[in-house]
Amino acid sequence: MRILLAFCSLSGNTRDVARAIRARCEAAGHAVTWIEADVQTLAAATGGPEHDLYLLGAWTDNAGRTPPEMKRFIAELVEAVGKPERLAVFGTGETQWGEEYYCGAVRRMAAFFGTGYPRLEIEQMPHGERDARAIDRWTDHVLTHTETLRNADPARFIA
Ligand SMILES: Cc1cc2nc3c(=O)[nH]c(=O)nc-3n(C[C@H](O)[C@H](O)[C@H](O)COP(=O)(O)O)c2cc1C
Repeated sequence: MRILLAFCSLSGNTRDVARAIRARCEAAGHAVTWIEADVQTLAAATGGPEHDLYLLGAWTDNAGRTPPEMKRFIAELVEAVGKPERLAVFGTGETQWGEEYYCGAVRRMAAFFGTGYPRLEIEQMPHGERDARAIDRWTDHVLTHTETLRNADPARFIA
């Protein structure tokens, strides 16, 4: 599959998670378009905006908010491809901001797209076997579920 992986990261935590997701996707034989939404736009997606799967990642800003750079990227994405069914969301946050606001951006993005995929929420920088396993398991689940959706999509027979 062609996978678009776009994320925002201020201090590198979300980038670390994104790197692990990309490695897992590539190890499974998929092509990943990598977009750092802090400094790149959707135009950086060589081959165009259409992908089989979209993975969006963000850190969480003040009181559970989505960083403005990710909001801008989402607006661009929706303008280009609408709200894709095959879109999953991940991110990092800190529980010290309170349960209500923890990883608020991940929750807001998931709600905006109405995604049927589970969310991946990692506390701060991913570390240890537990986080690595959580990232791998989430990525595997998203990939498997997407293949199922694609196979169930009658549009693929129209070529
Ligand atoms: C100004 C500011 C506000 C934050 N607000 C929240 C918040 O409301 N909820 C949360 O879970 N984390 C919050 N955080 C923590 C970051 O989301 C967290 O450290 C994240 O892992 C940073 O990711 P990055 O290294 O990819 O930038 C905040 C951090 C900063 C700097």
